[in-house]
Amino acid sequence: KPIAVLNGPNLNLLGQRQPEIYGAETLADVETLCAAAAADAGLSTTFFQSNHEGEIIEAIHRARTEASAVVINPAAYTHTSVAILDALNAFDGPVIEVHISNVHKRESFRHHSYVSARADAVIAGCGTQGYALAIARVATLLKG
Ligand code: DQA
Repeated sequence: KPIAVLNGPNLNLLGQRQPEIYGAETLADVETLCAAAAADAGLSTTFFQSNHEGEIIEAIHRARTEASAVVINPAAYTHTSVAILDALNAFDGPVIEVHISNVHKRESFRHHSYVSARADAVIAGCGTQGYALAIARVATLLKG
């Protein structure tokens, strides 16, 4: 089964939105990078972004039967959403949380993540490379 790569609100604006924080690459570039990282490990990805919390929750529900692992950048919902945590707690495989920026270097309201209580690993501050690192880690976990 593919790895579900899920992205939260405002990430559709990647490349245009605060490039000094999030860089110049677009979400389409991230999708390509994820597919390449998965292919390197003999795996595949599905790719999803939504600005709506419920749609992200439903994507996690679909992952329960359709995905081997979840790589998720919940964006601002990281810091607010018990509902996304609960959905991830209903998913059985590896979960990796990714943040493009180093959230710990930023405002204190970004220092707490609800999602980290479920994540097998958290990657922050590696830019979009964090997604490739997450996929490499998923490959290791799925082999183990
Ligand atoms: C983010 C960090 C969050 O605090 C922020 O709300 C985002 C993106 C990141 O990738 O660095 O939208 O998850």
